[in-house]
This record gives sequence, C-alpha cells and structure tokens, in this order.
Amino acid sequence: MSTVTAKTAREHRITIPSLAKRKKRGERIAMLTAYDFTFASIFDAADIDILLIGDSLGNVVQGRDTTLPVTLDETVYHTRSVARGASRALVVSDMPFGSYQISAEDAVRNALRCVKEGGAHAVKLEGGENVAATIARIVAAEIPVMGHVGLTPQAIHRMGGHRVQGRDEDSRARIIRDAQAVEAAGAFAVVLEGIPAELGREITQLLSIPTIGIGAGVHCDGQVLVMHDMLGLTDWTPSFVKQYVNLGSLASQAARNFAEEVANAKFPDAKHSYR
Ligand code: KIV
Repeated sequence: MSTVTAKTAREHRITIPSLAKRKKRGERIAMLTAYDFTFASIFDAADIDILLIGDSLGNVVQGRDTTLPVTLDETVYHTRSVARGASRALVVSDMPFGSYQISAEDAVRNALRCVKEGGAHAVKLEGGENVAATIARIVAAEIPVMGHVGLTPQAIHRMGGHRVQGRDEDSRARIIRDAQAVEAAGAFAVVLEGIPAELGREITQLLSIPTIGIGAGVHCDGQVLVMHDMLGLTDWTPSFVKQYVNLGSLASQAARNFAEEVANAKFPDAKHSYR
C-alpha cells in the first residue's frame, strides 16, 4: 500500500510548472493574501498554495481608501517578511500602482526588486491588452507573471468604484480579450476579479493557464481571498467573501479580558511572574 503522507507532500515547493499541471489534472489552487511573517507561516503550514503580498495592504494594513498610494518599497518590505514564512507556498508580489505603467523597462527593474530584495517567486500586475507587452518583457527577464483582469482596483477611478465587470456584452468581450492577451504574453496564471460566475467559467475553459477567482464564481481553477476578509478582521466585506472565522471579535474579547484583569490586578498572577 502506498500513501502520500502530509509530510512528504509538504516537502515539495509549489512551482510554476506544478501549477500548470494542477490545471491539467483539474486540481484546484488555494491562494490567500499575506503581509507578514506570522500569518505567512500559518497559511504555509495550512497548505495554502500561493501567498500574495497584495496591494490590498493599502486597505487592510495601512487603513487607506484605495490601493493607489502603496509604494514599491512597502511591497518589497512586506514581501521579505512573507517570504521568510513560506517554505512550501509560491510567493507572489503584487506590483503597486505606478511601478509598471511608465515603461516596460521600469516595470522589469521594479519586478526585479520584488525578486532580488523581497524574495518573491513571481509578480502580479493588473490589466489585459494594455499591459501585455509589459508582461512579455518581465517574463523575458525570467520573472514569472500572474495577470489580473476584470475588476482591477488600481483602475478604481476609471471604473467609478469597485463595480462588478463583464455584465454587458462589450465589457464581457473586453475581459475575454484581456485574459487571452495576458496568456499570450506569457503569464503563468490570471486572477479574475469581480465578474459573473458564467464569465469566470467561460474564461477558465478558454485559457490553458490557471484562473484564480475572487468574486468570479466556482468554476475558476483556484480561489483567492484577502486574509483579513476571510478571517473576520474587517468591519465590512463584499458579498462574495466567506468569513471562515471571526478573529476580530475573538481579538476584541481577548483585549477586553486583558484590560479588565490589569484593572483588577489579576494579571500577572504568580504563574506569569518570575521568582
Ligand atoms: O491586492 C490584492 O489583495 C489582490 C487580490 C484581491 C487578488 O489583488
């Protein structure tokens, strides 16, 4: 009898070729955002396949309204912390707004920083036909690229907010063209965000690279969530988010208990004091 133990499976780093095989075999891919060493270690040990240092750090870590102010230095800093906690997961840096729009040369230089200084295995950037040439240049520099089409938060001002995309025929056709352009440019996977589930299914069938959905239905090859949303650490979450635990209320209760015990001189007790 041969059984693959969890330990044996854990010895294999998730790689770009292994993700391509997962699509062929119909094995789903689990991706979460992470921004620090502690959560990266927890998610890595829980067999999350891809850890994304999302530019959502602007929202959930920095408390900003949009992802636009996130800088490349901040991305590199958080990538370095996550990479130290990831022994199995593929580590992907989300290139922030302004780090790949100016020129392909600038984009390659900035993607190199994510890999050399941050320890990322790959980078992600938003856009379709408009960034295909840039994706091709980064891929030519031996840096794997994940695309991101549909609802692209860095285009918040063009979209007029975080609105579901691909509901009318023009927008639907554009997103399909974008996904195909990203694949043709050499991306190894593509995030589909904020599109109808049926469009997620259609793009997943059309592409030979894995699709990773967020608000894009169950037919994608994988799913990604922002860790603060799925752990219940945010006040509000979009309707596509499933909260798997309410860490926010647990943390709040723990903090209240601590404050109460401090006020009543119950903490530290003898067990938590040095002799
Ligand atoms: O920034 C981010 O966290 C992302 C994911 C939502 C895909 O881009």
